[in-house]
Amino acid sequence: MNVAPLTDLVTDVKADAIVVARFENEPLDGPIAAADKALGGLISKMIEFQQTSGKYAELRTIFAPAGLSAKRLVLLGLGDRETFHQGRAMAACGAASRNLAAEKLDRVAFYLPNDLSNELAAAALCGALQGMQGQDLYRAEKKINPCGELLWAGDAEAIRIGAILGGSVNLTRRLVDEPPSAMYPETFAQIAETVAKDCGLEIEVWDQEKLTAEKCGSLLAVARGSVKPPRLVIMRYQGGPAGSAPLALVGKGVTFDSGGLSIKPTDGMKTMKCDMAGAATVLGAMQAIAQLKLPVNVVGLMGLVENLLDGDAYKLGDVLTARSGKTIEVLNTDAEGRLVLADVLNVALDEKPAHLIDLATLTGACVVALGTDTAGLMTNDQAWCDQVKTASHTCGEAAWQLPMFPEFGDQIKSEVADIKNVGAGRWGGAMTAAKFLEEFVDGVSWTHIDIAGPSFVEGEKTWTGGGATGAFVRTLVEVAAAQGRAS
Ligand code: BES
Ligand code: MN
Ligand code: ZN
Repeated sequence: MNVAPLTDLVTDVKADAIVVARFENEPLDGPIAAADKALGGLISKMIEFQQTSGKYAELRTIFAPAGLSAKRLVLLGLGDRETFHQGRAMAACGAASRNLAAEKLDRVAFYLPNDLSNELAAAALCGALQGMQGQDLYRAEKKINPCGELLWAGDAEAIRIGAILGGSVNLTRRLVDEPPSAMYPETFAQIAETVAKDCGLEIEVWDQEKLTAEKCGSLLAVARGSVKPPRLVIMRYQGGPAGSAPLALVGKGVTFDSGGLSIKPTDGMKTMKCDMAGAATVLGAMQAIAQLKLPVNVVGLMGLVENLLDGDAYKLGDVLTARSGKTIEVLNTDAEGRLVLADVLNVALDEKPAHLIDLATLTGACVVALGTDTAGLMTNDQAWCDQVKTASHTCGEAAWQLPMFPEFGDQIKSEVADIKNVGAGRWGGAMTAAKFLEEFVDGVSWTHIDIAGPSFVEGEKTWTGGGATGAFVRTLVEVAAAQGRAS
């Protein structure tokens, strides 16, 4: 979708629709005041008769608005200015654009209040772009139709950033929304190669042979149950000084999780194409970081496997030797994400990172604990976790920290091997999984983000028709930007 800056007055812009946003309980000002004047005070009358209040994500459409060149005017509520943040900017504009995307429109224009910060405006544009990409990739009659051109009134820098963020969030969403038989380790890696080429990123793709030579026994064991060979993608972006330690982003890329021999029931399996959302989030973030030319060094690592079952699948009771040399007793083949990440985190250590973040749709237990909208944060370095938390807060992406008490680590001790891949029972599963990962980061500053809840929605939200959300792409970009500002 083409995004173009808009300099026309609200009355003059020739478009199929114009969206004019305003805060609740504020006098009409700027573009909306101009529209009201052209309409002979209609908007003021609507407010007087309590037909519109400007409350958060409220939409009111006026067709064939007199005095305007556009075919329709959409009034969008932003809610209370005091509680407004990037997440609300994103979702409100997403709601408006999703509403318009029900029809095939050519030109859609957005006017936000003139005094929004560039950060809020960029998040709003990102949301508008998100609202125009649906999960109906394979429907003949699309429910969501991107418009031909999105016109955006505002600062050129905000438009540049918002368009990049929207493009990257939508890349992540599309990768996750693709069916698992289309998106498997090799096809994901090919897309990563294309992204790397387009953005000038350095890329390395490890195939089965290389992974074997590198002794990635833990990742390879999971991959053995599938005829699709695994891949490990390593992307490097150098925007900071040569030799300065990079930020490492690690993503779980299980392109389909059947559970393996510990097979999932249908209800648990039907959304498991989303189990590569961690890797897709890392790829989306790497694209945005490179396009924004952030002054920081970042390496992205994506561990790609399919967790299926066949005659050679890994078994309960198997003992794996991870790349780090640690031995792992397998007691549940559905706890596969941590086995993949064990080796990818170890490869990440070769990059001598200053800090590590991993993203994974790791546990259902995290969703039980925090609900579907909130990611779980777990760490071995409180100061680093606080920086990740601050970034997620800035972006309006919900995250909440869970404890890493040593007792959770006791649960993954094994009688047979160094550790086992599940805790003592189902309770506290998000933390026992994180304790397992901690075994593979060698004390390097690390934060784990369990995105099992927020990465994928089964129902509808105001700003998305369901499917992949692209959650935490913006947070990763903000973490990298903050690193750049600090150096
Ligand atoms: N991919 C799942 C976790 C998941 C669940 C992601 C729901 C998204 C939505 C993961 O591989 C898994 O199966 N975890 C098990 C762990 C258990 C076997 C210790 C789980 O959560 O049940
Ligand atoms: Mn699993
Ligand atoms: Zn999984």
